[in-house]
Amino acid sequence: MRTHYCGELNGSHEGQDVVLCGWVQRRRDHGGVIFIDLRDREGLVQVVFDPDRAEVFQRAEQARGEYVLKITGRVRPRPEGTLNPDLPTGAIEILGLDLEILNASETPPIQLDAHAADASEEIRLRYRYLDLRRPEMQSRLRTRARVTQVMRRFLDDQGFLDIETPILTKSTPEGARDYLVPSRTHPGEFFALPQSPQLFKQLLMMSGLDRYYQIARCFRDEDLRADRQPEFTQLDIEVSFMTEDELMTLMEEMIRVLFREVIGVELPNPFPRLTYAESMRRFGSDRPDLRVPLELVDIADLMEGVDFQVFAGPAKDPDGRVVALRLPKGGELSRKEIDVYTQFVGIHGARGLAYIKVNDWVAKGRDGLQSPIVKNLTDAALAGVMERTGAQDGDIVFFGADKAKVVNDAIGALRVKLGQERGLMAEGWRPLWVVDFPMFEEDPANQRWMALHHPFTAPKEDQLDQLETNPGACLSRAYDVVLNGTEIGGGSIRIHRDVVQRQVFKLLRITDEQAEDRFGFLLKALRFGCPPHGGIALGLDRLVMLMTGATSIRDVMAFPKTQTAACLLTDAPSPVDEAQLKELGLRIRSKA
Ligand code: AMO
Ligand code: AMP
Repeated sequence: MRTHYCGELNGSHEGQDVVLCGWVQRRRDHGGVIFIDLRDREGLVQVVFDPDRAEVFQRAEQARGEYVLKITGRVRPRPEGTLNPDLPTGAIEILGLDLEILNASETPPIQLDAHAADASEEIRLRYRYLDLRRPEMQSRLRTRARVTQVMRRFLDDQGFLDIETPILTKSTPEGARDYLVPSRTHPGEFFALPQSPQLFKQLLMMSGLDRYYQIARCFRDEDLRADRQPEFTQLDIEVSFMTEDELMTLMEEMIRVLFREVIGVELPNPFPRLTYAESMRRFGSDRPDLRVPLELVDIADLMEGVDFQVFAGPAKDPDGRVVALRLPKGGELSRKEIDVYTQFVGIHGARGLAYIKVNDWVAKGRDGLQSPIVKNLTDAALAGVMERTGAQDGDIVFFGADKAKVVNDAIGALRVKLGQERGLMAEGWRPLWVVDFPMFEEDPANQRWMALHHPFTAPKEDQLDQLETNPGACLSRAYDVVLNGTEIGGGSIRIHRDVVQRQVFKLLRITDEQAEDRFGFLLKALRFGCPPHGGIALGLDRLVMLMTGATSIRDVMAFPKTQTAACLLTDAPSPVDEAQLKELGLRIRSKA
């Protein structure tokens, strides 16, 4: 129907006759002349209609916002003084010679101009097809398509095979609730939607396929956040006969290629690596944002003996932690600002936020410190804190003392917040690998071990004997890739021997019977010549969110769900009729 996209026209097309199809961004009547800004996927162009072509002019007068038009016209330079340098097509305009209204439009519920992003997210999701007409959204979806294209090319070059795995399947434990699908042919039985293709990709290695990838949809019924959706996409990968070093090197090369080719950014080579233990110690988090220059400093040894239970208690508790966090020039924080930060750490479970403002430590010592807790601390403890944190006059030092988990969560989050709000965030991209994760973490509520990654992750070879004797100290062969404080991927070398797999199941209190029932097929497959193998999954939505500068993964998904896991566009989920339920052998209990 058309000869060109609106947005691709420029001075080189001057004098040409073109046929354009698109939407009316804006129509202006200017003393007998009509201007229509016509928009398509590639951008906007201005079309001018003169009254001397009366019939065409009349049709142009009928056009309204979001009408769909087919316009024939001639490209000409804009008159002197009317050039628009902000518009890529701003040096030219189209003289309208013919116009066909292909379709009308009701007045759209969201403006599609610069103010579009002001519309509520509810309206944007309900009218997603209109929201997606906005150049900002189109550009994000394009980047996403480009990312998957480069991924596929890279992996294809490396000999990876794209293989699909079932959506109607059995539960795969990735730590969330399953979405269930009732079976009509097996009344009372259910499929689970995959939380990831984990077990299938391992089986593909047992099938000898050697290098697998899939751009895979995953389904997890969990509490949603800006970087979590109930259905999301992974670049899912599995390889045989590779060490973790080989796989990590390959994956970071792919990520570097992606950033270079899609957004022109050169990432470091190699990515730095941190152990889980060091990451927790310095940043209170296993996905540290390295753009923030602040670090947690352990001071439990200085506080064991002080006459201040808030610090001395956790300092003596083997599960406790006491840290200081120095904010350079933080002395200028007001009482009110400190109160707000105290509330903030409260959200993460901290019971307070002690602080010391360092006004004049050099000249006045203890008297130069302003703080509600200085009176409780010995000279030695104070001097130790000042020295270890490197605090200077004009700084503030915050403190966290509690169970280690609370301190890590609270002060780790405070560290990032201070970085954002006090202008300390460095520009740019700071990827890293986090390695040497513990195999298990303790679930204090149920007093049992849980897999930190998933139950198929292998323990380090030299720690196999620790599995039984000291599971808490046992490290795994898992790795996460983190970018600017977001976990963009995670994976591991897997258990490839059934004895070890059984041992791990046992530790996780999965009985032999349960293991047989849920993972019998895997345990059996492990006994038929399973190769050493491992893999990783990258969160595609998160990666594209970061690459496009979006603040939520919803903004890089065409049709995302809301915070309550609903689709406003289609009104899913929705009730089904009685006949359907009956066929499935289901009855809905009346809602409590
Ligand atoms: P994991 O559970 O760590 O590993 O998931 C891999 C990556 O997927 C992304 N991600 C999500 N993105 C959006 N919404 C969600 N709800 C969500 N959950 C996870 C994250 C995460 O790093 N089978 C293993 C991988 C493996 O071992 O190979 C797995 O799924 O970026
Ligand atoms: P209190 O003696 O409870 O009034 O606390 C004195 C100071 O210690 C206050 O500034 C509190 O905010 C702070 N504080 C209380 N509990 C903790 C904690 N667990 N970690 C860090 N600071 C705390």
